[in-house]
Amino acid sequence: MARTLGIDFGTSNSAAGFAVDGVPRLIGFDGDTTTPTALFLDYEARRTLLGRPANDALLRGDEGRYMRALKRVLGTSLMHEKRQLLNDRVTFVDLIARFLRMIKEQAERETGLVFDRALSGRPVFFHRPGDPREGQAEEDLRACYLAAGFAQVDFLAEPEAAAIATNALDRPGELGVVVDIGGGTSDFSVFRSGEVAILANHGVRIGGTDFDRSISFDHVMPLMGKGSSLRKVMGDGLSPVPLAIYNDLATWEKIPFLYTPQTRRQVAEMEKLATEPEKFARLATILEDELGHDLAFAVEAGKIDVNRDGQVGRIALGEIEPGLAQPLSAGQVAESLAAYARDLSEGLQVTLDLAGVAPEAIDRVIYVGGSSLMTMVSDTMTAALPRARHEFSEVFTAVAHGLAIASGRS
Ligand SMILES: Nc1ncnc2c1ncn2[C@@H]1O[C@H](COP(=O)(O)OP(=O)(O)OP(=O)(O)O)[C@@H](O)[C@H]1O
Ligand SMILES: [Mg+2]
Repeated sequence: MARTLGIDFGTSNSAAGFAVDGVPRLIGFDGDTTTPTALFLDYEARRTLLGRPANDALLRGDEGRYMRALKRVLGTSLMHEKRQLLNDRVTFVDLIARFLRMIKEQAERETGLVFDRALSGRPVFFHRPGDPREGQAEEDLRACYLAAGFAQVDFLAEPEAAAIATNALDRPGELGVVVDIGGGTSDFSVFRSGEVAILANHGVRIGGTDFDRSISFDHVMPLMGKGSSLRKVMGDGLSPVPLAIYNDLATWEKIPFLYTPQTRRQVAEMEKLATEPEKFARLATILEDELGHDLAFAVEAGKIDVNRDGQVGRIALGEIEPGLAQPLSAGQVAESLAAYARDLSEGLQVTLDLAGVAPEAIDRVIYVGGSSLMTMVSDTMTAALPRARHEFSEVFTAVAHGLAIASGRS
């Protein structure tokens, strides 16, 4: 019998499940119901590690190439470029397919069932409305599922899946909004419980990986030379350091592209011309020892700590230089995220407009997605929807639960 596996392929974390008599059951991954959306190409063992084992290999400092946040690459020309990795020339379609195949195989191993169809979550917008990359992104993701061995793929908007999981649609009379803020996108669904379900979906390409990028760019990259000066090669005077490397180093999905001989040479040149060469020596170490993701994890951990405690925390960078750390205050985080707060507020307003609903009419806000735990998010939503009850759902698994339930209906 054809069976459907619900898969929440997330920017940062993924999960999968199916329905048994309408009740969702999630697949286990190394003792957890979610797994990091990560790959590690192990140079020594010449194999690809997927999910938690990929993270473990990075933390151990194994020789290899780590990748995360590949969902952000869907729809771009990078997806189909062939690269030499281990023994093969592969594209990102092949790499994402390996990850999805691991999910399929784990589900089949655990249950003894065969899943030949996928019901995949997707953000309302991968990029933005009207962008040509928009249709391409879904096409790319479909190609990844087919290459992973699924015969058929259907898609459901992630916030709609969350609405199903939280029984949002089963409480007649209520008007609510699902706010799903993940690693890569923020999605909104306005729903009316009872006979009419989803009134409007909308989303913006903002997520926790953007928060990490801004915090890193503003507060960590200056330790690596951002904002300092280089002596001119010809003549006197100073010129500002170009920003492109810092932007890429602060961006989860772009980090692997920095590990090239050209970038290393460029940094060595900058170190010679720098007025503060010790900062460029750090940058050179990061590229030489491939510590970009270790840095991204340190920034993410600092963000979460400061958000939780509301005080001054620190970003620990001892891997790059013994004792190196960057203090980080709640005020600095708020400052780095201020533009995102405005964009989220605007995204919510567009969704309400599409639904033809006034903010005061919303009874209930349901938060899902790891980044909905940011105080900036709940502060922004509370200010915009003052009359509503604000409830947190199972932030990391609601979408997968909803997909699992919906997969049983198809
Ligand atoms: N306690 C926390 N406080 C703030 N942010 C957190 C917390 N825990 C996790 N995050 C952030 O949540 C994000 C991951 O959330 P989630 O797993 O829901 O995303 P995703 O489903 O993979 O992404 P998307 O749905 O956007 O594709 C990361 O950016 C992470 O830093
Ligand atoms: Mg998600």
